Amino acid sequence: MPKLTLIPFGCQANEADSEKIAGVLAGEGYELTERAEEADLILLNTCSIREKAEQKVYSLLGTFQHLKARNPRLKIGLCGWRAPRGERRPHPAEPLPLYIQSPRPRRESRLKAWVSIMEGCNYLCTFCVVPYTRGPERSRPPHDILAEVRDLVEHGYREITLLGQTVNAYGKNLRPRIRFSDLLRAIDAAAGGTIRVRFTSSHPRDFTPDLVEAIATVPGVCEHVHLPVQAGSNRVLRRMRRLYTREEYMDTIQALTSPGPDIAPSPDVIIGFPGETEDDFRDTLRLLHEVQYDSLFAFKYSPRPLTPAATYSDQVAEALKTERITALLALQDQIALDRNRCRLGTIQEVLIEEGPNPKMGSAATGRTRRNQLVHFSEGSPSPGEIVSSVITEAYSHYLKGKIA
Ligand code: 5AD
Repeated sequence: MPKLTLIPFGCQANEADSEKIAGVLAGEGYELTERAEEADLILLNTCSIREKAEQKVYSLLGTFQHLKARNPRLKIGLCGWRAPRGERRPHPAEPLPLYIQSPRPRRESRLKAWVSIMEGCNYLCTFCVVPYTRGPERSRPPHDILAEVRDLVEHGYREITLLGQTVNAYGKNLRPRIRFSDLLRAIDAAAGGTIRVRFTSSHPRDFTPDLVEAIATVPGVCEHVHLPVQAGSNRVLRRMRRLYTREEYMDTIQALTSPGPDIAPSPDVIIGFPGETEDDFRDTLRLLHEVQYDSLFAFKYSPRPLTPAATYSDQVAEALKTERITALLALQDQIALDRNRCRLGTIQEVLIEEGPNPKMGSAATGRTRRNQLVHFSEGSPSPGEIVSSVITEAYSHYLKGKIA
């Protein structure tokens, strides 16, 4: 049997694509191996959203050269979403590409599954290469999504993450039109309440009141919402072409977090966007104080081919970006610690994902519905179990608990 090593880079969407590629190649008789030195085919599934992921691809390609010398039959392939270097063509003139029907993916996990529901993005944020790589927004037909969800439930999956570059813009171009919130309800119904549902990545502009309501009321939908803000300063948001103000974003956060269950929003933040002043950066820090996120992803801005911001003349020095991101992460650690301390003594529903981990001194590890990692030092719950846990210790990046 020929052997395949498949290496994904970047975001969850790329991991999900890699599982689809592995599914297709499994059909061709390929067996997966993590050991590149025994592979007949090495595929690097690239991502060009940030410069760093791209650089990693090239450096890894270099290290694989000697394998090729040893095994002349070895093929090395690059696939994925590389930014085109050519003409500016975010929205191709040819008819909208149809949503590609997923081949049966070869999934890494037996508990958690990615489910792609839409592709592409119709926004044109000035920093972002996605419209040039993934093309315009298109949604997968709901019956196809629901069939995949039912199949996952039958196979014992406990959690799905719905994926799309602007996942909450789902359904806009389908006829009949269906709202993302309707899809969430249909998925929860199809799963018969047995599965946790997450989704990523959302755009604040598409975060409509019906979606806020669905998150609060649909039982399977987790109280954790990935909601990228990118910047806390209106001046920067405007130059990023995000199409919302800080105040509008805060209104959405307010709507999400004020009534009912404790909902944890979690943003992406870009540090050092061209022209970001000390005041702009402080606006972002103030936003963190105001919202009190449990967690966030912060990225140093990197210029991407074809994007308008790459040509802006007021690029921020690398050293300043490093200084700012360090300060931001330190503040976030403090906020996360405070938030986690407030959860001491509370009962949290935890999906067990891993068994004993000697390095952490834990007997099992899982995640709460708010996506917080919980380590258990005693008990022997098995992966896939959903347990009720009392939180006994709090840290910035994880909790410790006892099975209640
Ligand atoms: N530089 C840095 N971060 C970026 N992102 C997207 N484009 C860039 C860029 N040019 C970040 C955004 C987005 C996440 C997926 O990647 O925060 O939400």
